Amino acid sequence: MTVRTIIRMGNPILRQTADPYPKELIGSSEFESLVDDMRETLHASGGIGLAAPQISISYRLAVIEIENTMTRYGEIEPVPFEIYINPRITVISPEAAGYWEGCLSVPGITGYVERPQHIRVDYTDRKGEPASREAHDFLATVFQHEFDHLDGLLYIDRITDKSRLAFDDEYLKFHES
Ligand code: NI
Repeated sequence: MTVRTIIRMGNPILRQTADPYPKELIGSSEFESLVDDMRETLHASGGIGLAAPQISISYRLAVIEIENTMTRYGEIEPVPFEIYINPRITVISPEAAGYWEGCLSVPGITGYVERPQHIRVDYTDRKGEPASREAHDFLATVFQHEFDHLDGLLYIDRITDKSRLAFDDEYLKFHES
């Protein structure tokens, strides 16, 4: 397993629409090592989600894993490691709520983004089977943030109130509730 380099804002790969991951590659050794590397890279970074374009792989894949459930967002439910292949989001309730988001590709800053808080995610799982799950609240935000990467979007694009974009230190000093 290898910790891959996470590319940062300004790298044009982050602005591309990623290609669907070819179904015939699921289960291949190339696929399995990519999944392992994404997990390793996620752990090494201390993040909770990573999309393949962030490691210069312009395919529609993202991993999410939440082990440490005490976060700045309060206590949240643990989410076991999973890879989401070619995911699609359906908004179940458009009622939105905001969280201060950060991104491994935009280090050192954080910004307040409002997103729908009840969604369904349809995706292909690691075995190549169709799968589906719902997500609420903070987890709904996590999915939307990660899958935005597959469409070349960063959370900063979603910030409507630019006064709530801050360096991490200033966030802690002036904005943390
Ligand atoms: Ni991100």
